[in-house]
Amino acid sequence: MNAEDVLTQIAAEVSVCTKCVLHYSRKHAVPGEGRPDAEIMFIGEGPGFYENEQGRPFVGPAGKFLDELLQRAGLKREDVFITNVVKCRPPGNRDPQPEELVACDDYLERQLQAINPRIIVTLGRFSMAKFLPNARISDVHGKALWVNGRLIVPMYHPAAALHQPSLKATVIEDFSRLPAYLEMARQG
Ligand code: URA
Repeated sequence: MNAEDVLTQIAAEVSVCTKCVLHYSRKHAVPGEGRPDAEIMFIGEGPGFYENEQGRPFVGPAGKFLDELLQRAGLKREDVFITNVVKCRPPGNRDPQPEELVACDDYLERQLQAINPRIIVTLGRFSMAKFLPNARISDVHGKALWVNGRLIVPMYHPAAALHQPSLKATVIEDFSRLPAYLEMARQG
């Protein structure tokens, strides 16, 4: 199967998934979207209110800011792939629980394998913890770190920057490094 077919298959499975309790309260599962051959994959935390309504990732206020960050970095949303560590909304936007992260991880792993991006950008601490379990976001944000042959760039979550205006300039600056990291990753 090619990457597009694999992603379509995963999305179909996610839409009817009952592997954890989050399926009871979801309106729409949010598998993720973007190019099957994306060079950059963004991984957030989990769908919020608007994503749950629409079945699409990062379409609420944090998504609008992500769009701005991408645009400022010279990237287009349609050229990347965007997903989350959990594909269904945690009620009231609470943190995803360990068993929910475990239940959903296979979908993310298969998405990663199908897309095989040059760079993985983690948005927030839950997706960072998948690749860098012992890191502190305040130490590593905006850096490009090789982990098991993959280039990981941890970023503050766009929603955090919306809630703490002092982070906004930091996130903008961190995103502005992505084109250079991409060039570095293309060189191997
Ligand atoms: N926050 C996330 O982490 N993911 C989304 O899809 C939306 C908001």
